[in-house]
Amino acid sequence: MNKTLAIVAALLVVIVVGIGPRLAQWAGVGMDHGGGSTTTTTSAVAIGGPFTLVNGAGETVTEQDFRGKWTVVYFGYTFCPDVCPTGLATVASALDMLPADMQEKVVPVFVSVDPERDTPEVVGEYVSHFHPRMVGLTGTPEQVTAVAKEYKVYYKKVEDGDGPYLMDHSAIAYLMGPDGQFVRHFSHGVSPDDMAKGLQQAIADGAAS
Ligand code: NI
Repeated sequence: MNKTLAIVAALLVVIVVGIGPRLAQWAGVGMDHGGGSTTTTTSAVAIGGPFTLVNGAGETVTEQDFRGKWTVVYFGYTFCPDVCPTGLATVASALDMLPADMQEKVVPVFVSVDPERDTPEVVGEYVSHFHPRMVGLTGTPEQVTAVAKEYKVYYKKVEDGDGPYLMDHSAIAYLMGPDGQFVRHFSHGVSPDDMAKGLQQAIADGAAS
């Protein structure tokens, strides 16, 4: 091996080692949609923040509109064949399991990552099938990109032949506190019962602190 080859080999090692963790990160996020893998999020990670979106009635909504309420925020799209319906049904069932006085403190929120097809009207109609109090939000592509970034949500358009395109996206439900701060997440595949227990615990802890 001559000297040039040795240097090239050394550089390759540096590059591979350098991007390895990032590749793993991307792969982990990408897998989250289908597999029910656990993405660990801690409150040290800044999730959430200011956003401007549009609700099913065509009204502008910001994070300020949810102050004083607990929100369970789920990102997806209305054309989603199975993952989103399952996730949103879980949120709705969990909410219904809470004691009545607790239920009214929690707002389930669905945010579309497919603004191209998910107009305010489409999103409003969609969420009404899951829970009467579920809020559906969408926006311009720029607004959706911004809110997804705030919530560290991965999404990507997947064009696969002739049929309608799909959106690959992370399938995590975020619980945000009445102050808008991230409290915890629920991974895809959590049972309604476990989500209800988790919500009840978090709200009780929040009331105690
Ligand atoms: Ni989905």
